[in-house]
Amino acid sequence: MLVNRPPMGWNTWNTFGWNISDKLVRESADAFVDLGFKKAGYEYIVVDDCWSKKVRNAENFRLEADPDKFPEGMKAVADYVHGKGLKFGMYSCAGQRTCGDFPGSFDHEFLDAETFASWGVDFLKYDFCYKPAFIEGQLLYRRMGMALRACGRDILYSACNWGSDNVWQWIRSTGAHMYRSTGDIFDTPESYRKIAASQLDKLGASANNCFNDVDMLTVGMYGKGNVGSKGCTDADYRSQFALWCLFSAPLMLGCDIRSINEQSLKLVTNPDLIRIDQDAEARPPMCQTENGWDGTKHILMKHLDDGRYALGLFNFEEHDQEISVTYSDFGLPASAGYDVSCRDVLGDDGEKVYREYMRAKVPAHDCKVYICTLVKR
Ligand code: GLA
Repeated sequence: MLVNRPPMGWNTWNTFGWNISDKLVRESADAFVDLGFKKAGYEYIVVDDCWSKKVRNAENFRLEADPDKFPEGMKAVADYVHGKGLKFGMYSCAGQRTCGDFPGSFDHEFLDAETFASWGVDFLKYDFCYKPAFIEGQLLYRRMGMALRACGRDILYSACNWGSDNVWQWIRSTGAHMYRSTGDIFDTPESYRKIAASQLDKLGASANNCFNDVDMLTVGMYGKGNVGSKGCTDADYRSQFALWCLFSAPLMLGCDIRSINEQSLKLVTNPDLIRIDQDAEARPPMCQTENGWDGTKHILMKHLDDGRYALGLFNFEEHDQEISVTYSDFGLPASAGYDVSCRDVLGDDGEKVYREYMRAKVPAHDCKVYICTLVKR
C-alpha cells in the first residue's frame, strides 16, 4: 500500500477520550463533508481507544465493540463513513491491554487484523501499553505489520510507540506508514513546542510511506476535552499547525470538529499550509534558531517539489519580536544574483520581493508563513 502523502484525518482521543459513540462518529463524518474538511484533503475518521468490550469473545477470541457505545457494531460505522466517501480508522495495542485497559492485540495480531479487515477498516493506530517484558517492542510492530499485509485489505499502519527504542531507526522496516515519535500532546504551548523541538534533528528519517507523526493536533480545542489542559490561543494554534505542515507531519485533527470555530476551521483548511504539508517530496526543513531551540526566534525553510520554498518564522516570546532571515544561511549567497519573492499565506502582507534578507514583525506566540520563489535579478 502506497502512502505518498502525510495522512490527514480526525481522531476521537484528544477531545473525547473514553466518551465515544456511534453517534459521535457519524456526526463527525457528516461534519467532514458539510464543513469542508473533506474538500481540503482530510480523509480518515479514526476511533481511538475505549471502543471495545472489556474482554474478548470467550469462544472465538475476537474483539467485539462495546454495545452501549456502538450498538450496531463497527462494520455499520465503517459503512456509514465509507458512504460519505471517507476512510475509517480504528485502534489497538501491541501489549496485552490497551492504554485505557481494554484487550490489546498481543498474541492475537493476525486474528485482529482479519477482524478489522472484515469490518472495512482502512487505518489502524497501534499503541504500546502493557507490553510483556519478555518480548521486544520492535518484534511486536513487525508482527502487526505482517498481519495487516496478510489480512486481504489495504490498511494504513499507524504505529504509536511514543518514540521508544529509537523508533525512527527501524520502524520503516516493519511496514508502518506513520510512527508516533513522542509522548502524548496536551493543549498547551509548552506541549506542542516540546514535541516540535524533540523531533527537529530526527525529521530526516520521515519520508514517503513512513511519516513521523508528532501527534494529533489540538487546534480548536481551547482547553476543552480529554487532553484539554489549560488550552492555547489562536496564535499558538497557528504556530502548531504551521510547524506540523513544515514537518510534513500527518495532520490528524483532535478538536470537536462538529463545533469548530471559524478561525480554527480557516486555519486547518488553509490551502497553502496544506500544500506545504502534502508536498510530494516531504523534505525536512532547514532550521535556524537563535540560542538553539530553547531560544524564542526560529526560522524553518523547506524545499518544495516545484522549486519553491516554504518559510516559517516563529516567535516563542511573550511579546512581539522582529525576526530577520538572512538567505545566505539557507544556501543563497548574496553574490548568487537572485532575490526572493515571498507570499504571506496566513496574513495579508501579500507578495514582496526581498534582497539578501527579510525582516518581519511576529506577534507573541505567533508565526508568519510564506511561500517563496527565487527570482533572477
Ligand atoms: C496512548 C496514546 C494516545 C491515545 C491513548 C489511548 O497514550 O499515545 O494517543 O491513543 O493511548 O488510551
